[in-house]
Amino acid sequence: MDTIQIRPVDESELPEAVRTSYRAFGTSPTQADHDYFRSDSEQARTLCALDGDRIVGVSTALSLELSLPGSVTCAAGGLAWLTVLPTYTRRGILRGLMREQLADVQRRQEPVSVLTASEGEIYGRFGFGPAAYVMGFSVERVHAGFAHAPEPIGRIVMMEKAEALATLPASYERFRSSRPGSVSRPEYWWAGYLADAQHYFLGREGASEMFHVAHEDPSGVIDGYVSYRMKPEWAAGQPRYTLTVMELVAGTPQVYAQLWKYCFGVDLVHEVSFPKGMVDEPLRWLLADPRRFRVAALTDFLWARLVDIPEALESRAYRSVGAVVMEVSDPFLPENSGRYELVVERPVPGGARCAPTTRDPDLELDVAELGSVYLGGVSFTALAAGGRVRELSGGAAAKAARMFGVEVSPHCTTKF
Ligand SMILES: CC(C)(COP(=O)(O)OP(=O)(O)OC[C@H]1O[C@@H](n2cnc3c(N)ncnc32)[C@H](O)[C@@H]1OP(=O)(O)O)[C@@H](O)C(=O)NCCC(=O)NCCS
Repeated sequence: MDTIQIRPVDESELPEAVRTSYRAFGTSPTQADHDYFRSDSEQARTLCALDGDRIVGVSTALSLELSLPGSVTCAAGGLAWLTVLPTYTRRGILRGLMREQLADVQRRQEPVSVLTASEGEIYGRFGFGPAAYVMGFSVERVHAGFAHAPEPIGRIVMMEKAEALATLPASYERFRSSRPGSVSRPEYWWAGYLADAQHYFLGREGASEMFHVAHEDPSGVIDGYVSYRMKPEWAAGQPRYTLTVMELVAGTPQVYAQLWKYCFGVDLVHEVSFPKGMVDEPLRWLLADPRRFRVAALTDFLWARLVDIPEALESRAYRSVGAVVMEVSDPFLPENSGRYELVVERPVPGGARCAPTTRDPDLELDVAELGSVYLGGVSFTALAAGGRVRELSGGAAAKAARMFGVEVSPHCTTKF
């Protein structure tokens, strides 16, 4: 690490930074990817690690809004492109990039940092914990009958990319604050999504481009949409296509049901799958036979790290009133280690206060575990049973679990 210098990337160095990042993932960027990353990068937040004049590591951060329980948001530094060339790994370059990135998150007074992780063992040491999961599932069309047929309340329209760019972002914006774990999407994110840039959607494996289909209410307002791909397959002259949902956003349960009904009604389709569904996906309960909802995987997606513990904890709403004292250890940002009292006076946004205290602690945990429970998708009781949270006063984990509980599970599908 002695010979490695970490500094903000210069605009002229961006192409090399992008190549470095792709190489670390074992692939190469296309021109479209270069174009995308040129607009994607918040240049002031993009760092490179140099050995002489050669870029050997890269990282960036996006200025995001993170949705929290209670339909409120907080500023979050979304770390991305964390990559080191395979010839330079395991000599502390990621650690150096992370130190700089989190110092910048602190300077910008973003109470939380978030990221998506390529592997589960990397980020706990830096204080990140898995906070929002995605559930991959599939349903065969032949078993997709609904228990109650939804009444049509609008119409379904297929959109060209330009129309999608003009309408989907507003629809997503209306939805995102109601789902903890969702993040804001900069304009360039949408441009990349709709351009179907390869870096975002690896694993396309012979499937079609993305199609975008919206639901329009009777007055012509878009109140939901689904983006999907079709993968053709024929067996003995019979169509066995898979329709893979990339994203489904709906303003109401009725629109949600209509969009799923549309997916199951597309000709040639044998199976509909959604690799990044919500953990509490209501589709299961729309089906006449819920057992036909086949879960394929449950995977962590969004990792959260509390950078300013009192500010982060005061930003969200809680499910029940109560008080808990937590002894938090934060080896990577030791200035955060200490004892904090969280008092929830009212179970609404703005109803909680959190400050350092000298009272006896009820719970002892690492800041990564605090990241995991922050959005309500992981419970204190499960972490206590798994030995990751230590209960110092009887029933404290259950009390904290009630306080931090949520009505809908956190969910994020925004790859950044
Ligand atoms: C993951 C990656 C960024 C790590 O970079 P690095 O410079 O080798 O990491 P460091 O040397 O700073 O390691 C810091 C710590 O993380 C650990 N670590 C790093 N990569 C790890 C991995 N893939 N699995 C488990 N632990 C890992 C190191 O052992 C070290 O542990 P320590 O603190 O106990 O000593 C790099 O290997 C890489 O680019 N991999 C391919 C792309 C990728 O997966 N990027 C992450 C995107 S989310």
